[in-house]
Amino acid sequence: MKHATEDLLKAMTLEEKAALCAGLNMWMTKGVDRLGVPPIHMYDGTNGIRKTNSDEELGITGENMPATCYPTGSAIGSSWDTELLHEVGAALGAEGRQMGVQLLLGPGINMKRTPLGGRNFEYYSEDPCLSGELGAAFVNGLQSQGVGASVKHYACNNQEYEKMITSSEVDERTLREIYLNAFERIVKKANPWTIMCSYNLVNGSYASENEHLLNDILREEWGYEGVVLSDWTAVNDRISGLKAGLDLEMPGPAHYNTKAIVEAVAAGQLEEAQLDKIVRRILELVRKTTDSQDDRGQAAIDYHELARKAASESMVLLKNDNRILPIDAAKVTSVAVIGKFAKQPRIQGAGSAKVTPTCMDIPWEEMKKIAADSIALTYAEGYPQDDREDDLLIQESAALAAKADMAVLFVGQPEYAESEMHDLTGIELPLHQVKLIEAVAAVQPRCVVVTCSGTALAMRPWVQHVPGVLHSWLAGQGSGKAIADILFGRVNPSGKLSETFPVKLSDNPSHMRLRGENGKLYYREGMFVGYRYYDRKELAPQFPFGHGLSYARFAYSNLKAVQHSGQVTVTCSVENTGDVFGKEVVQLYVHDEECKWVRPEKELKAFAKLALEPGEKKEVRFVLEERDFAYYNTKYNKWVAETGYFQLMIGSSSRDIRICERLHCHFGNEEISFHKFSLLSDWLSHPIARAILESCLEEMNAHVSDKIRLDDEFIGFWGDFPAIKIIQMFGQSWLIDRSPDQVMEQLIQKFDRERHA
Ligand code: BGC
Repeated sequence: MKHATEDLLKAMTLEEKAALCAGLNMWMTKGVDRLGVPPIHMYDGTNGIRKTNSDEELGITGENMPATCYPTGSAIGSSWDTELLHEVGAALGAEGRQMGVQLLLGPGINMKRTPLGGRNFEYYSEDPCLSGELGAAFVNGLQSQGVGASVKHYACNNQEYEKMITSSEVDERTLREIYLNAFERIVKKANPWTIMCSYNLVNGSYASENEHLLNDILREEWGYEGVVLSDWTAVNDRISGLKAGLDLEMPGPAHYNTKAIVEAVAAGQLEEAQLDKIVRRILELVRKTTDSQDDRGQAAIDYHELARKAASESMVLLKNDNRILPIDAAKVTSVAVIGKFAKQPRIQGAGSAKVTPTCMDIPWEEMKKIAADSIALTYAEGYPQDDREDDLLIQESAALAAKADMAVLFVGQPEYAESEMHDLTGIELPLHQVKLIEAVAAVQPRCVVVTCSGTALAMRPWVQHVPGVLHSWLAGQGSGKAIADILFGRVNPSGKLSETFPVKLSDNPSHMRLRGENGKLYYREGMFVGYRYYDRKELAPQFPFGHGLSYARFAYSNLKAVQHSGQVTVTCSVENTGDVFGKEVVQLYVHDEECKWVRPEKELKAFAKLALEPGEKKEVRFVLEERDFAYYNTKYNKWVAETGYFQLMIGSSSRDIRICERLHCHFGNEEISFHKFSLLSDWLSHPIARAILESCLEEMNAHVSDKIRLDDEFIGFWGDFPAIKIIQMFGQSWLIDRSPDQVMEQLIQKFDRERHA
């Protein structure tokens, strides 16, 4: 763009400014031709580019322009590999530039409150640290190529059911610690060019016009200066949205809102200065996207190969009893491959994220290539397309399995189950598939099940009857080869679950409040989402968050933790004690031993994926900031890390903690203040406060017969009683010319003075 933004603003008419606040059509912004402001193009999505054949069409059903289809969010979230996310983001940027994409509508980073969420497959995780770190890497990769990101859906859009009219009712602490945390990390670490607001309401106000979310938190607190755009048709009251800071309405042209904006300014209901702020941000976005249309050469990326690599990093080996995998050609001469998904794999979910892949690896074909002449493969369909029960197909499969040395079953959620626009109805496999597994396992003990779904699956009872389970997620166009490579040991699996797989759906903390009633959905489980809940409830999941097996073995040792000036450095060594190359995801969880406020048993705060040759040992080093020890304190409306003991736990999963260190950490940001009803124990827990109270009681004791002695017995009984009430109870003959309130007020003032002295 030739002109400076401020000059453009001055030159634009009110009508032009108002018009710029909505798109031109489905996928473009409007330009201002006479001033040389070009339109920009944006397209979905989260695991590949969904560029429609025309900018006027939504293109949700049918084919769009072919593009690389990478693993969906939950799959690549299970790679726990920030470098991979950066690489995939950069590849999407490069491919996007070739396809004329200036903004990509992703990544999707909403938390998985329930495994039934229809769009769970698009989202990385149930944990904000994992989602935030992966999301930041992805955005940095994408934007390094001059293509902007649109981090979505801000916020608390955790299910599809009535999402346009349901208010997610979330307390402030849960909002900060769980639902906004990944957005905050990405804003601070990757500065995304845009953020997409969600359809739903949050605590009674639409996300597209929510002052608290858009203004107080995103702009004021996090300092975000990019563009907020609406989800497609998420705008309800455009003027309220503008006032709260929603910049761009999509899709456009929304002529009625251009008119409404002009009228609101004319009527003095909307300040032109506010409109200017919004227009300024949109112009800056246009500038960024056009400035980055430099003539850098096309990167030589083998996109399909990258999709394969991403798929193999994402898959999770859930169970591998007696080392049934990898398939050993020395012991196995024939394998029965059962299930339609072996020949017609599911590689992604449906809706706006659905990509028309450039090509697709088929598991059956990839297995045949590897098996070649040394292992005979046979095939049975296993189940019909519509999952109707069909005994004949089951009998045929069992007979085939009985004749082979082992069986590999491909099962999963059917295509229709996982899609934007509706939630799942369950997390079990279709009944026919369950019967199929049981029948095959009954005749063939060497039985491996390859599951596919974009969300957690409940696997009992069949999981107890098979020795091997590989969860392949919805892993994109390279998933066929990735599965075959893992089954035959050409790739050592290294994915770890990015969400808890419960024993059954009803174990999930959101189960009691799933859909919402009368326009309100109460997030009553609070911050106990995912493993935070299972830990606190002491409820064993089928497979915990962070779980994933390898063909190698890893030994952890030498954990050290030290604090200097606010930062805590944690180091440990990990050694590959197995006999094959492998990758291990080292997970660092923190537990606060002393906080009076309820906190989760452990919270993920850092992770690293290490590549290790057999016998190789590496040191991993994490640096934690004060914020990693903090919780959101709603009394002071700020993050507070309290001085005291913390446990630093290093694990191979959230339930497989290998080493742990207890560390006393000192933080300077504590807010300590006393109020009228602060408890005796509160006063005694702080040295200055204790001294002040003790001298007050001493003075009081001189005037009363029933004297207070702050010994263990007294404190044990009265500790949780407000100090003011103790004074009122025991100090009547001393309280002549002052009330208990006045005494307390003096004590509090004294404390504040001495503390800051
Ligand atoms: C989805 C967004 C998507 C947009 C454009 C909406 O329905 O919620 O995630 O980017 O459509 O397709």
